Amino acid sequence: MTFANRVTQMLGVDIPILQAPMGHIAKPPLVAAVSEAGAMGLVPGSLGIDEVREDIRRTRELTDKPFGVNLPIAFVRDVAIIDMIVEEGIRFITTSAGSPATHTARLKEAGLTVFHVVPSLRGAKKAVDSGVDGLVVEGSEGAGFKAPREVSSMVLLPLVASQVGVPIIAAGGIADGHSMAAAFALGAEGVQMGTRMVATLESPVHQNMKQAVVDADETATMLINKHNGKQVRVLRTEATAPFELANEGDPMALLGNIYALYAEGDINASLAQLGQVAGRIDEIAPVAEILRRTVEEFDSTLRAMASRYLADAPVG
Ligand SMILES: Cc1cc2nc3c(=O)[nH]c(=O)nc-3n(C[C@H](O)[C@H](O)[C@H](O)COP(=O)(O)O)c2cc1C
Repeated sequence: MTFANRVTQMLGVDIPILQAPMGHIAKPPLVAAVSEAGAMGLVPGSLGIDEVREDIRRTRELTDKPFGVNLPIAFVRDVAIIDMIVEEGIRFITTSAGSPATHTARLKEAGLTVFHVVPSLRGAKKAVDSGVDGLVVEGSEGAGFKAPREVSSMVLLPLVASQVGVPIIAAGGIADGHSMAAAFALGAEGVQMGTRMVATLESPVHQNMKQAVVDADETATMLINKHNGKQVRVLRTEATAPFELANEGDPMALLGNIYALYAEGDINASLAQLGQVAGRIDEIAPVAEILRRTVEEFDSTLRAMASRYLADAPVG
């Protein structure tokens, strides 16, 4: 099928699917595989300026298709990273983890298309007011750092879609064509996948982490750190389970051991950020295969619904 909507047009891609920016995971082979398949790979901009530049250059060696960068505003150590991103010819950026008012004007002036990640209607309105081109609307079922007050995609997407005019990319809980079709029904024009991209052939994490996605059921993740505002959705492990209902303590120090998890496969060494949708993922597959199947399933889901529920719909 052929997609033609605001997201494909603004991003210059064939498939309105983004690979989520995941520090140490969204490395050039993964990002490039996503872009090569016609979707949008994103280089995480959370590392230092030199490493991000190197990742951009290595990705460009692997694909001539468009890819973007994510800028987590609160973690920007040197604003020169913005000039670097522009100089390197990046055209699409998502901003997150901070006020969209901080850099949007500068990014827009430089000619970039800017989408801001939001977890609430209030955040969405603020981002639109600061001039962003679109939103990544992220439900609380997704992996990683979350807003202190959680709202799941089923509620958040149609709410935001009913109140803003800019295009929406849905994140949180999307792993296939069924969930993509659901997100579109709720008002999205694109989707972003994090957890699904961890369990891919091109993902650089240790096999144990990929297998943890496959083995997880839908209740295997939890939000920890509600008491201190650093809310994060992680896999429940021997190391993280004690923090599930904790009112004190801070497991964030475990993030310092992320290499032991990602490179050595010690699932108890750190925080395995995974979303609830891990419960729906049961195999490790190449990126191109996942994207091809997602598009086919999106198409067949929409057709099946039309032929089942619309009396006057053409069958096929
Ligand atoms: C292993 C892993 C690591 C992540 N690390 C980051 C990160 O470094 N920065 C970030 O903005 N989001 C990070 N995320 C969150 C994703 O960007 C995305 O918002 C989330 O995965 C979407 O929900 P899903 O997992 O249900 O697809 C991470 C997600 C995963 C699965």
